[in-house]
Amino acid sequence: MSVSDQLDRPLRDLRISVTDRCNFRCPYCMPAAIFGERYQFLPKPQLLTFEEISRLTRIIVRLGAVKIRLTGGEPLLRQDIEDLVAMLSALDGVEDLAMTTNAYLLPQKLEALKAAGLKRLTISLDTLDDDIFRAMNGGRSGVDKVLEGIAAAEAAGYTPLKINAVVQRGLNDHTLVDLARFFKERGHILRFIEYMDVGNKNGWKMDEVVPSAEIVERIHSAMPLEPAAGNYFGEVARRYRYADGEGEIGLISSVTQPFCGSCTRMRLSPEGEIFTCLFATEGVSLRDPMRAGASDAELEAIIRGNWGARIDRYSEIRSSLTDEVRDRRKKVEMYHIGG
Ligand code: GTP
Ligand code: 5AD
Ligand code: SF4
Ligand code: SF4
Repeated sequence: MSVSDQLDRPLRDLRISVTDRCNFRCPYCMPAAIFGERYQFLPKPQLLTFEEISRLTRIIVRLGAVKIRLTGGEPLLRQDIEDLVAMLSALDGVEDLAMTTNAYLLPQKLEALKAAGLKRLTISLDTLDDDIFRAMNGGRSGVDKVLEGIAAAEAAGYTPLKINAVVQRGLNDHTLVDLARFFKERGHILRFIEYMDVGNKNGWKMDEVVPSAEIVERIHSAMPLEPAAGNYFGEVARRYRYADGEGEIGLISSVTQPFCGSCTRMRLSPEGEIFTCLFATEGVSLRDPMRAGASDAELEAIIRGNWGARIDRYSEIRSSLTDEVRDRRKKVEMYHIGG
């Protein structure tokens, strides 16, 4: 029942964005000047219900997806998210169920998520410097709140955690060694993400990207590193372990070392569109046919057709585009389809 795309890539992962809302305003994702008080987020009737998400997931799992990740926006803002976790973890064929969160609401949600069957957690934290962190989340949170979320996750047994840090030149790049040392000491896996030109609203510029090779060099000169083998086919992060045997980091280098050749990820948006690339222009609605009464077999045919036609490899062609062509291309926003 599995399905492969035009470049022979199987469908293995499903990333589900459960809301387009977020309590942070990271300028690289939802700049506050655009996403202000009056910004119109999706009204509730347009969102997939948990029953609808669960039904689509069941079909997509039958087509080969074994890893599921809940994202947003901020997934913990979706009311009763633990109920969805429980529904998804009960599906046959789901081998991995993870969530990416900014951790702000984690302490109050953790017990319910764990009881519902959430297996793994990834937490975003770009720096330990409070002023810089505030600048990088639109003034919505101090570092302390995220550390409280991390402590709660540790206490609930979600170790090792994965910690995602987006790196922007001139902003947080001089704080990365501190961040690495902190998470090395706590036994978590820190991953540095090259700042990406996702969407059209963050004003991305190539000179704000710090190439992963440079990040590795900086960490290595403070705490020696050696390359480590990948964990599985299609893994996004390249791994390095500390030479002293204590811990590892990851580098997600979509800009300088794209990994489209092994990209097995499908994305489902809050209003039920599937996207075959983080940089896609358009999605295909499953909600509309579903609400018009489509059967499972009909929905499966749409998904199969969509993945079967897939040719996306944006990160591999990015460098061949002129700035103008790149900036004019309409791209879905990160907060809409998740990281
Ligand atoms: P594991 O399941 O733990 O291996 O997670 P992961 O390595 O897939 O990490 P995660 O889902 O947290 O993704 C980390 C970050 O990598 C995301 O937040 C994105 O910024 C980036 N990323 C993930 N998938 C893709 C992708 O398909 N294309 C690009 N360009 N970036 C991606
Ligand atoms: N470039 C790289 N990473 C990004 N994220 C959000 N926007 C961008 C971007 N433009 C990251 C967040 C979070 C994950 C969901 O995606 O920091 O860790
Ligand atoms: Fe919210 Fe995450 Fe986007 Fe920041 S990167 S605005 S925390 S969804
Ligand atoms: Fe996959 Fe698109 Fe990212 Fe390439 S750019 S790895 S095809 S999501």
